[in-house]
Amino acid sequence: MKILLVGSGGREHALALGLSADKACTELHAAPGNPGIATIATLHPIAVTDNDALAALAQSLAVDLVVIGPEVPLVNGAADVIRALGIPVFGPSKAAAQLEGSKDFAKGVMRDAGVPTAQSFTCTTESEIINALDTFGAPYVVKDDGLAAGKGVVVTNDRDVAIKHALSCSVVVIEEYLDGPEISLFGISDGRNILAMEPAQDFKRAYDNDEGPNTGGMGAYSPLPWAPADIVETTYETILAPMIAEMAARGTPFVGLLYAGLALTKNGVRVIEFNARFGDPETQVLIPRLATPLATLLFNAATDNLDDTVLNWRDESAVTVVVASEGYPESPKMGAEISLPSTSEASIYHAGTSTSDGRLLSSGGRVLTVTGLGANLTIARNIAYAALSKIFLDKSFFRSDIALAASKGK
Ligand code: AMP
Ligand code: GLY
Repeated sequence: MKILLVGSGGREHALALGLSADKACTELHAAPGNPGIATIATLHPIAVTDNDALAALAQSLAVDLVVIGPEVPLVNGAADVIRALGIPVFGPSKAAAQLEGSKDFAKGVMRDAGVPTAQSFTCTTESEIINALDTFGAPYVVKDDGLAAGKGVVVTNDRDVAIKHALSCSVVVIEEYLDGPEISLFGISDGRNILAMEPAQDFKRAYDNDEGPNTGGMGAYSPLPWAPADIVETTYETILAPMIAEMAARGTPFVGLLYAGLALTKNGVRVIEFNARFGDPETQVLIPRLATPLATLLFNAATDNLDDTVLNWRDESAVTVVVASEGYPESPKMGAEISLPSTSEASIYHAGTSTSDGRLLSSGGRVLTVTGLGANLTIARNIAYAALSKIFLDKSFFRSDIALAASKGK
């Protein structure tokens, strides 16, 4: 099977390794990819925003499957353009990707499917905004309706800050605050069936002890020893399966990865948000743990053929830690030279890297993601942090507490 993978982050590097480890994958291509992915795939310098060029590439390579990593091409309809050529795609249509592209749309589907989530109002005027904020009270949760590259959500006790953010959005969703630990739980769907993956937890704040600004994610781990034993089953029954059924009933089946961001509240599990793609960096812990061959799995999802598939997991824990550039997330400094250890027990995934005259340089806010896999979270942590101590990138930083509490049974 020839596969084209679209994207260039740490998530795509982990997916590329998973795909190429499946014997069914005979040829792997990536657009545009990154220097890490280049070691296992042929790169094609095409922007993820260029639907027609991606489709033309898939056709000229005669690939059997296209896997789309990031949300932007999905929300732009890249999957539709490629599917129209008769090529199977793992990734939802533009219509189904609205689950990530519009918070208001996602709320409507959840309402129709009876899926538990925060109560909300969708507002377009100042008086609606004030009314919604005062209905729920503090802490205020204010969400830009559309894609905002991780900057769309403000959670604050300051009513003026909440109003200011709300007024900066053309359409805004204001919702009830959900109290409780957050987890990420993904499902792989062929449009009719959805296979729930194991849960992971992402660390969104930039610094240790959950301090500092919100980021795309500074680390993750899986499994979650502290989570309720039935969390996967409950999420499948109350959230993933009803969402897939509702999307199919609307005539816009969701084929791809449905990412449920969940809060475990005292009243039960509630959806915080959906994404229409694999999470980053959760993918960097889930793919190393997944024993089911990935290329075959994603091909079967893309071709409406998951009826007989079950997911198998390695009985190992994974911890991943993001190396970020100085100034991330506000104004990351890039172009610094990176030195990597020649050998490492950990997997070092490239995220924001580039090469110039044979040197490896930082080219993004999140530069690398380093995953340790081991018998338990403590061992996995030790493997990841041992590798981190041998990576040099001037003034870069990483969190030292990824999975620390969970590894101590908290
Ligand atoms: P997002 O940018 O959509 O990933 O959201 C960023 C973060 O905002 C989430 O990870 C949560 O920590 C927080 N958040 C979003 N919605 C709520 C909510 N209803 N209650 C509490 N926190 C929330
Ligand atoms: N880790 C959060 C995300 O991928 O959106």
